[in-house]
Amino acid sequence: MKFRIFRAPDGQGEGSGTPPVKTRDEVVVTANEPTLSRTPQATAGAGGPVGPTKIAARDVSVFYGDKQALYDVSLDVPDKSVTALIGPSGCGKSTFLRTMNRMNDTIDGAKVTGRIEMDGDDINARSIDPVLLRARVGMVFQKPNPFPKSIYENVAYGPKIHGLTTSKAEMDQVVEASLRRAGLWDEVADRLHSAGTGLSGGQQQRLVIARAIAVNPEVILMDEPCSALDPIATAKIEELIDELRERYCIVIVTHSMAQAARVSQRTAFFHMGRLVETGGTEEIFTNPKDRRTLDYITGRFG
Ligand SMILES: Nc1ncnc2c1ncn2[C@@H]1O[C@H](COP(=O)(O)OP(=O)(O)OP(=O)(O)O)[C@@H](O)[C@H]1O
Ligand SMILES: [Mg+2]
Repeated sequence: MKFRIFRAPDGQGEGSGTPPVKTRDEVVVTANEPTLSRTPQATAGAGGPVGPTKIAARDVSVFYGDKQALYDVSLDVPDKSVTALIGPSGCGKSTFLRTMNRMNDTIDGAKVTGRIEMDGDDINARSIDPVLLRARVGMVFQKPNPFPKSIYENVAYGPKIHGLTTSKAEMDQVVEASLRRAGLWDEVADRLHSAGTGLSGGQQQRLVIARAIAVNPEVILMDEPCSALDPIATAKIEELIDELRERYCIVIVTHSMAQAARVSQRTAFFHMGRLVETGGTEEIFTNPKDRRTLDYITGRFG
């Protein structure tokens, strides 16, 4: 998908003597990446409808020791949709993503301030068990990280430790349903007991998504889930993300403008630890309000 970016006249618009051609500097963000054949519904993606707020972050700051990495970020993440976090390297995208399932708790010296609510509840409250929270808010990383176990056991692991099933038959059903939902079942049905690590990179990433799905999450966080994948595997994951958004709240970090445009309905642009701008993806990509957003999406930095 291509978005034409129109640069707003910066104080030199029509009437100031500048030729009209210069007042709307047209830049095209192109995808040097796979183009997906999209369903009409998927094409509605950029800026399409979103559900009610699932996660609300208010004045969230994160410190690593003395160093502040995130400054007063407030963002509403809607349900049943994909929110893309974009911005130059080191701007705090992964740090912010990790605040949503308390993964920063696991980093020595990291401190999170501010408030994050999921369905209105403070996720940092004492009463919240971070292990249970991470089942509700699953995470998929850049590098697929299947456990050194069979495909079946990778998916069954979460339901087993959370006691979600009571019989082998029930577990079989959960494993199959999760693999189907992750778009992997047909490729692995005949080798469920071979090693998960023996799959291709793209299959491993879908296995990891199946593993996250198996514990009935409400939110799936993805940190550059396609950056280690080839274009075909990337296209499959993007198609999958588009299907998954019907049921889940998805937040994806990506360095690919084209990917953000293809898969997300909302986009949030971060710069130097601050959330600069957020809005409907189409709006952010065609009519950004902040100069820094424009510079980033048109490739002037980052
Ligand atoms: N575990 C950590 N310990 C100390 N500093 C960290 C840690 N993780 C991140 N930082 C710092 O916090 C800032 C934000 O990092 P973060 O990884 O969130 O950025 P990012 O936007 O995800 O970057 P990239 O696009 O390169 O993945 C950076 O300055 C980084 O060096
Ligand atoms: Mg990162």
